[in-house]
Amino acid sequence: MTELEKKGFSHNFIQSIVLYPEKMDEGRILKQIDFRFPVYYEGMKAMKLGCPTKVKSRRYTVCDRKNKEKTMKVILQNLTKKFPGRSKNGPKEIAAVDDFSFEIPDGKLIGLLGPSGCGKSTTLNLLCGLQKPTSGKIFFGEEDVTDLPAEKRGVGVVFQNYALYPHLTVKQNILFPLENLKGAQKLSKAEMMEKANEAARLVQIDDLMERKPSELSGGQQQRVAIARALVKRPRVLLLDEPLSNLDARLRLQTREEIRRIQRETKITTIFVTHDQEEAMSISDEIVVMKQGVIQQTGRPQEVYDAPVNLFVAKFLGTPPINVFQGRIKGQKLYIGEEVIMETKDLPDQEVFVGVRPEGFVLSKDGSFSCELKGVEVMGRDISVVCANRASVNPTIRAIISAENKVDASRALVRFTLKPGKVFVFHKETQERICFLKD
Ligand SMILES: Nc1ncnc2c1ncn2[C@@H]1O[C@H](COP(=O)(O)OP(=O)(O)OP(=O)(O)O)[C@@H](O)[C@H]1O
Ligand SMILES: [Mg+2]
Repeated sequence: MTELEKKGFSHNFIQSIVLYPEKMDEGRILKQIDFRFPVYYEGMKAMKLGCPTKVKSRRYTVCDRKNKEKTMKVILQNLTKKFPGRSKNGPKEIAAVDDFSFEIPDGKLIGLLGPSGCGKSTTLNLLCGLQKPTSGKIFFGEEDVTDLPAEKRGVGVVFQNYALYPHLTVKQNILFPLENLKGAQKLSKAEMMEKANEAARLVQIDDLMERKPSELSGGQQQRVAIARALVKRPRVLLLDEPLSNLDARLRLQTREEIRRIQRETKITTIFVTHDQEEAMSISDEIVVMKQGVIQQTGRPQEVYDAPVNLFVAKFLGTPPINVFQGRIKGQKLYIGEEVIMETKDLPDQEVFVGVRPEGFVLSKDGSFSCELKGVEVMGRDISVVCANRASVNPTIRAIISAENKVDASRALVRFTLKPGKVFVFHKETQERICFLKD
């Protein structure tokens, strides 16, 4: 009998810690909290245990189903928010969010993505109750929260400019949302401190509790803002460009941290960003918006590999997709006068052709020729910078492995194109046309 079994933990439960730490076990969620403290809980009986040999390196908190039920799917149903248009000659109203329908699965992290002004923050404001929709509904699980005041929604928010209270310490900042709880939700001082400490531990700022925000780095301030949003154990977590003020390295580190925290807490989370790479790297699913309207939703890779239109294709990917004027004629795809590949039976028409930077293959007798402008070394890869008269942009970027040798003194380079990396778009609607032969 192991030490855990002696303490009354079931064999299955112990197995699940050892073998499947991420999995739920009969109503209990296992979540790793802190590598330093060997503390285990089962159900609501908090039992402190020594660390048995089998699970030496892993320590978990086990919450019961009650906590699990606090997270939930979120449904946005035909959500619309209109603002009065203030310019004299412009439209009377601007739809910042326009007929937005989407279901966020329970416990997932969704990346809400789009250019500046497309309605991302407005969507979050509607979700947290700061603004009322012009029409449409919001559900948290089965509950219609459309008319529920913000403070009753159980939402944690990190706003675009995550202002901390400068005169309060880190501890006081994190405690702030708990001190304002009323009625049955009111907590004792000890309970508040326990929750604040747990949130601080989660974002690894527990040793900074007595400092003021001015004594913290940008990344640390960011984590305080996240701890403040987490401390009430929200049903839904909303993060509006939470990494915008950080340098590139800290950005990377903090986004990994947000992902870790989200996985551990399993709180349904919406992460807003205009940085496509950020959204692609941490989201279970992404929602791409343009002028208040959803363009496409799906797993990041699916959306990248099969964009529905030119806007989505251009928005995802660094360096961005290369776009050319092209045409389909006699079941062949042309860029300029060059035949790129065969197409299935489609009517002759003018089109836009998009080629991802990684879709070019250097080839002496490739059918696509470009004027060579230079070669940029990027370490593992090289970027071949070139031009083509049919290109919509002045330069084309082809990313190829650094093992390829490109003679930069040559005037012309030739490529063949990888079929899966070439997209064709309708000239007027800009929607993608499936053109490859089966
Ligand atoms: N209170 C308001 N009154 C009038 N127009 C507003 C208001 N709030 C937002 N808008 C307009 O609604 C549109 C969407 O704004 P929103 O702040 O949601 O964009 P965003 O996607 O968050 O942009 P960013 O990436 O720059 O933060 C914009 O055109 C904006 O000017
Ligand atoms: Mg915004």
